[in-house]
Parts: sequence; structure tokens; C-alpha cells
Amino acid sequence: MKLLLKFAVAGALVAGSTVAQAADKLTFYCSAQEDWCQLMTKEFSAATGIKVNMTRKSSGETFAQIKAESSNPKGDIWWGGTGDPHLQAAEEGLTMAYKSSMRSELQDWALRQAESANDKTIGIYSGALGYGYNEDLLKKNNLSVPACWKDLLKPEYKGHVQMANPNSSGTAYTTLATMVQLFGEDQGFEFMRGLNKNINQYTKSGSAPIKSAAKGENTIGIVFMHDAVKQAVSGFPIKVVAPCEGTGYEIGSMSIIEGARNPDSAKKFYDWALSAAAQSLALQVKAYQVPSNNGSKTSPSAPDLSSIKLIDYDFKKYGSSSERKRLLKKWDTEVYAQ
Ligand code: G6P
Repeated sequence: MKLLLKFAVAGALVAGSTVAQAADKLTFYCSAQEDWCQLMTKEFSAATGIKVNMTRKSSGETFAQIKAESSNPKGDIWWGGTGDPHLQAAEEGLTMAYKSSMRSELQDWALRQAESANDKTIGIYSGALGYGYNEDLLKKNNLSVPACWKDLLKPEYKGHVQMANPNSSGTAYTTLATMVQLFGEDQGFEFMRGLNKNINQYTKSGSAPIKSAAKGENTIGIVFMHDAVKQAVSGFPIKVVAPCEGTGYEIGSMSIIEGARNPDSAKKFYDWALSAAAQSLALQVKAYQVPSNNGSKTSPSAPDLSSIKLIDYDFKKYGSSSERKRLLKKWDTEVYAQ
């Protein structure tokens, strides 16, 4: 009897461990804001029972990590972050093609992103670049109210402007590529060098400059406008600026990593993340990007892209491997090193 019981217990343990081993898993690389990454992790797990291991890193950093791991990939899905490094990953064969059945529900710009990468990436949201400032600090320091990109070059703002480093951050790379497209390459770099004189710190993450402005530790932060709106609606004294010259924008993207260990989980996440229900979760964390699913809920607080002067951002060119490498190297030597 005793022996039988022993066998039964051992059998249950073996069965238990088999179940645990077979449980679906997903290694999720996330490049959106941390709170949104956590919410997506929790809700996807709840919806599917798949165990998710999430890491948040900026867009350029995640690209570099996926590249470094390419001979032994550890990640399954990369969700969020600006589209340019997703396009570069596609071009370099670091991500794999997938045609989701959810495509019929998506906006054209999301599908165009997929087309330009032979379906190795897809658009999940979009948002315009701009900046935000702390109204209280501006007054306290007797600074004028900025309205244009070129205003940020005024000597009065010395030490008052913050942006991220374009090597790590997709937001900051979008800023660099926007200036090159808006003013031409020579003048664009001239602008970045002038701006460099006023920068107090280059942060790793794109939204950090507006978070520190909200806390009163920095005056002006160059970020996506929706990131500044998030701080304003959270009660901080932040004003949002759509620069007068016009501005660039992002197509936040998602890609499945080539050689993913859990490709089925990655595809399930991909389909789910394109659904209106999953995209509507964004509002819970005040993520006011424009969602790519036509049926997603939006907020009246979100920046209205149709009222902002947007440049015709050339994603194909500025998301290409050679151009992104070239511009980053040039920024390192001609701006950062000065
Ligand atoms: C924030 C924005 C996103 C953007 C991301 C890029 O999270 O809300 O719209 O895609 O920044 O992050 P990064 O740190 O790479 O600039």
C-alpha cells in the first residue's frame, strides 16, 4: 500500500513537471513606455495563459540586443518603439515575415510599413514628434515661450533642454532624421550642433526628458507629443508644442524575431496586439498614440495628427541600415563629440 502510494506521488510529480514544461512561453522585448509594456504583458497572459517574460529597452538598444543575439536568439517578439530600427532589423534579416489575419482591420500606414519590409514588421501606432515644457520653470527662469524648433537654439535656453541619445532611443533618432528632412542635411546638422549647446543631458530613453520636466528637474523635453500630453493630463505643469516649422512622426512597430524559440506564442501575441481590444488598453496607461486598428478606442486628449504640420517622413530611407548607421555615426562625431 505504502509502495503504491509512493508510485502514485512520483507519477503525479512527473505529470506535473511535464505540464509545466509544455506550458507556452513568450520572451517579449518591449520598447514602448514601461507601464504600457507591463499592462500588455499582464493582459496577454490573462487572455492566453502564456507565461510572458518581458524586458523594456529603448528602440535602438533593443535593435542592438537582437543583433547581438542573432546567432542564438533569445527574444520571440519585439513590440513597440519607433519603426526605423524595426525596418533596419527586417533588412538585416533579424526578424521574420508574418501575415496576420488581422491586417484587414488596420490603417493604411500600418500596412505600408509592412509592405516596405516584406511583412517582417507592421505598424501598431503612430505619433508626432514635438516638445513639451514645464510652465512653472519657464516662468521662474524668465524664459520666453518657445513655439518653433529654431526657438530651442536661443542662448537663453542653455542648460534647459533635454533629449535622448539617438543611438539608444528611437525618439531621438526620429528627431535627428526629422531635422535632416525638414532643413536639409547640412542645415539639419547645423541645427543639431546649435541644440547641443543648450542640452543639459542626453538620456537613454526617449520619454525620460519629459518625465524629468514633469518632476521639475528639467525645463524643455524633446519627445513625441503624446508623451508630453501624458504628463499634462496626469496633472503636471507641462505644455505641449507642435513646432511651427512642421515635424516628423513615428510608425511604432512590431516584429517577430528570426529564430524565435516560441514562434507560435509570438504569432498569438502579434495577432492579439493588432486587435482593437488590445490596442484600446493603451488608454488605461494614458498612451495617446494613434492606434493602427481602425476599431480601437481613442481619447479626446490625444494629439490630433490632422491638425499638425507633418513632413512626408521617408521611412524607407531613414529606416534603412546604411542611412541609420551613417546618420548616427555623423551625429556621434559632429554633434555629440563637440
Ligand atoms: C515612448 C513613446 C513611443 C515611442 C517610444 C520610443 O515610449 O511613447 O511612442 O515609440 O518612446 O522609445 P525610445 O526610448 O526608443 O525613444
